Amino acid sequence: MPRTLITSALPYINGIKHLGNMVGSQLPADLHARYLRARGHEVMFICATDEHGTPAEIAAARAGQPVAEYCAEMWQVQKDLADGFRLSFDHFGRSSSPQNRRLTQHFAGRLDKAGLIEERSSRQVYSNADGRFLPDRYVEGTCPNCGYDRARGDQCENCTKQLDPTDLIEPRSAISGSTDLEVRETKHLFLLQSRLRGDLDAWIDRQTDWPVLTTSIAKKWLHDGDGLQDRGITRDLDWGVPVRKGDEPWPGMEGKVFYVWFDAPIEYIAATNEWADANGGDWERWWRTDKGADDVRYVQFMGKDNVPFHTLSFPATILGSGEPWKTVDYLKSFNYLNYDGGQFSTSQGRGVFMDQALEVLPADYWRWWLLSHVPESSDTEFTWEAFQTDVNKDLADVLGNFVSRVTKFCRSKFGEEVPAGGAWGPRETALAETLAIRLANYERHMDAIEIRKSAAELRSIWVAGNEYLQEAAPWATFKTDLETAAMQIRLGLNLVRLYAVLSAPFVPDAAATMLTAMRVEGADWPTDMAEALGALPAGHAFDVPDVMFAKITDERRADWAERFAGTRG
Ligand code: MF3
Ligand code: ZN
Repeated sequence: MPRTLITSALPYINGIKHLGNMVGSQLPADLHARYLRARGHEVMFICATDEHGTPAEIAAARAGQPVAEYCAEMWQVQKDLADGFRLSFDHFGRSSSPQNRRLTQHFAGRLDKAGLIEERSSRQVYSNADGRFLPDRYVEGTCPNCGYDRARGDQCENCTKQLDPTDLIEPRSAISGSTDLEVRETKHLFLLQSRLRGDLDAWIDRQTDWPVLTTSIAKKWLHDGDGLQDRGITRDLDWGVPVRKGDEPWPGMEGKVFYVWFDAPIEYIAATNEWADANGGDWERWWRTDKGADDVRYVQFMGKDNVPFHTLSFPATILGSGEPWKTVDYLKSFNYLNYDGGQFSTSQGRGVFMDQALEVLPADYWRWWLLSHVPESSDTEFTWEAFQTDVNKDLADVLGNFVSRVTKFCRSKFGEEVPAGGAWGPRETALAETLAIRLANYERHMDAIEIRKSAAELRSIWVAGNEYLQEAAPWATFKTDLETAAMQIRLGLNLVRLYAVLSAPFVPDAAATMLTAMRVEGADWPTDMAEALGALPAGHAFDVPDVMFAKITDERRADWAERFAGTRG
């Protein structure tokens, strides 16, 4: 049985994610996981919350909660939303887990042994009022270049000049506003990534089948960006993985934690370890090539901003350890989804967030629209008009309408059992041939993780059924030729079953409704089209399902457009 390991970029813990976040990582990863499971692969689908770092500490402080408590609560919120969107993770972990602590410390110890870690001193801003060092972007002040008074210590947003916190005029803490700041000397560990340039270059060169978006970003950072500069992997914070070399203390590093971007990707491995601990499985056969992971294909999903970390930093950690860990085989990355003429923004609360989306409509509507418009080759835009038009057309007029017409017509003329009828004629054979070709295309695109093409092909498969129904017109045939009408409807009901199986990765709830209505449990992926279209025999009982997709009215659309026009309170 082929085995596939799938990871989605880990959502930050601080706050509910918007649809732009989900469409570039969790949702397409789920599509792939569901598809491969349906094709008989053994799948391990992993996600987790990315919990460390200053943003989490600040979000907790804003919420008036201890950070550990805040993270535990937000994990549950994110988990429930993931369930609401039917994201079928085998495990949804937490980067603050003991497993990740152990593995992160383990990797640091190995990198140190390999001579890839160096201690360096640096001068950093310390806030006496806050009792902590401030990361560059949490120091604010006036830009020496343009005079903008809310410049951040890493960059001025107004004139884009790159800054050091010490460049700022009248610096203050962005956390408390305090100006009681001083510069202190502090020591940090640096990962000597530059020494791994050759290894990483060769490794990326071997990935000949990666999407252009991925390799172009990787190569750019490797060669002309500063992505491979030696990287500070520790921070002076309380919240994070304490710095240790494996099981040993790290002299001089007491009270410090690893940088969030060092421990976060290690959580992919650790979350699989969490899964094994919770379920009694073996996680190493997914991750260690010396323990059976040789034949695993590992696929990652993420937005384009995450690519450098996954093509350079994380591989540097893994390759640098000198141990036989699995590295990614295929990295699928995405452009951005924009919202109604601007950007989705977490900090500004702009756009539609996961909780709000589910308040408005069931998951399938969102899954279908987002996946069929996923920003694969360029940035794309969500507008309420497009959403309404596409969902009404594809889901209500095409798929939903087909199911409803076939089942209702059958109930009224033949009862709630598949009618017998005669043998197929040329029209039915032609339809089966068309569908076989379309199915092969659909599989090819799904295998290649070409999501928009897959969605388009699936839509054509639905359309083919509607066209057949329109041409065969069983309601007319019925008046003159009962046998033929029965045969046409028998085929129609079998199409409903087929559509359920093929559509499940995109719209799992609708697929389940269709299967339940057809009184089928666990239908297999079709291998032979004629056979698949005869799976439901004459006499097989079924039910007419409730309306699967209500149309979005202009009124509701206008309501939502208005409700989501501003920013979230
Ligand atoms: N939390 C990061 C983001 O949302 C992604 C982390 S992916 C990981 O951009 F692999 F590093 F965890
Ligand atoms: Zn400026």
